Amino acid sequence: MNIKKRKTIRQYTQQPITDELLNQLLNDAARTQTMGNLQLYSVVVTRDKEMKERLSSAHFSQPMVTSAPVVLTICADFRRTTDWCLLREANPGYDNMLSFLNAATDALLYTQTFCNLAEEAGLGVCYLGTTIYMPQEIIDILQLPQLVVPVATLTVGWPAEDPKQTDRLPMEAFVHHETYKPYDEERINAFYTPKEQLPENREFVKINDKDTLAQVFTDIRYTRKDNEAMSLGLLNVLCQQGFLKTNDLTYPIMPMIETRPDVLECDVVRFQNNKEKWVAFVGLMDNQPYEIFTGLMDDEEGIALPKSVTRGRIIKHVEKDGQKRYDFQFENKRGYKTTVEGLSEKFNPEYWNYAKLISGVLRYRMPLDHVIRLVGSLQLDSDSINSWKSGVARALKKYMPGSGEDEKNEQQP
Ligand SMILES: Cc1cc2nc3c(=O)[nH]c(=O)nc-3n(C[C@H](O)[C@H](O)[C@H](O)COP(=O)(O)O)c2cc1C
Repeated sequence: MNIKKRKTIRQYTQQPITDELLNQLLNDAARTQTMGNLQLYSVVVTRDKEMKERLSSAHFSQPMVTSAPVVLTICADFRRTTDWCLLREANPGYDNMLSFLNAATDALLYTQTFCNLAEEAGLGVCYLGTTIYMPQEIIDILQLPQLVVPVATLTVGWPAEDPKQTDRLPMEAFVHHETYKPYDEERINAFYTPKEQLPENREFVKINDKDTLAQVFTDIRYTRKDNEAMSLGLLNVLCQQGFLKTNDLTYPIMPMIETRPDVLECDVVRFQNNKEKWVAFVGLMDNQPYEIFTGLMDDEEGIALPKSVTRGRIIKHVEKDGQKRYDFQFENKRGYKTTVEGLSEKFNPEYWNYAKLISGVLRYRMPLDHVIRLVGSLQLDSDSINSWKSGVARALKKYMPGSGEDEKNEQQP
């Protein structure tokens, strides 16, 4: 097929793709270049109807997943190379971000080479970027092990449509000579106005009730909210599949805010140590622990809260004499607010002092797994302080990506 004529195909005939043709394409695509000739990819072929139906939900039910005779999930894969090294007395160091990027690059090059060959053979192909939106589902369905992450999906079949070719920006819009040339308003207008004026794009703006084509992208198709939520999901997956460690994340990503805001949202985490019921109030910044208050759940000496309270706010008051006081406020189901004044007074002063110390460490963004190790390593005499220690460690583990502690903690009495 002439590259000038290529286009994405999303509708396929019933005609099957033979194993012979598919295998030839899968084999020939491996002539693509890869890092160190390590071929850091794997391809999972899906032909089974039920498997396609399961994959479809991970792709936001895009119809091509169930209608195409073949679905390919192409994965960044350092598993096989790592296993090879381990069996050959070589010490692999591929459980990191750089290795993921190298493997993803190999996988995407393979994907594109496959597309070129498939189109040349007359097949139609659609690339599904949704693969990296909900990778966890795909990992579970395809049973992908550590160091394997899906990065691309192709639906493949014999074309049952002949859509119009899509537009492209002029070459001057993306080619720079010697140095990068910034885009001023004049150049943006020159490159994007023709695109904006295409009848199909005008229609797109109209049916989406927007003022500009750019707004269709920012407000509807690829929003900040979705992008940020799915980025976090992707980071979690990279941690879980062994390409990233939580240490790598907390330092560079979390900004440090030294002055505590007057109000912090907080989680209420209940846990049990020996026979005692405990509660932790975990103040959050960017959904990460910023401070922690802990103590016994007890009407007499500590704090008693309705079971349904799992969120609230910690409010800082500065008294006239400059002393700080921290109150916990929650809303009941009807929206009425209740404030528990003076968290510091409610808890044993010794725990209070330790909690202050741990909060200081959290505030300066020591990576969470280090904080948990630090708490665990504190040498303390009394039994009750030792149960405080393990309670704090458990409360904080909830915030470790992929820890699974979040559900566990919530079920604690
Ligand atoms: C990274 C990436 C993600 C894509 N994701 C999807 C997708 O989820 N669904 C879909 O129908 N097409 C998807 N496509 C296909 C694009 O929509 C298509 O390539 C683009 O609109 C240009 O059209 P053309 O390929 O026909 O020239 C994707 C393409 C790429 C490269």
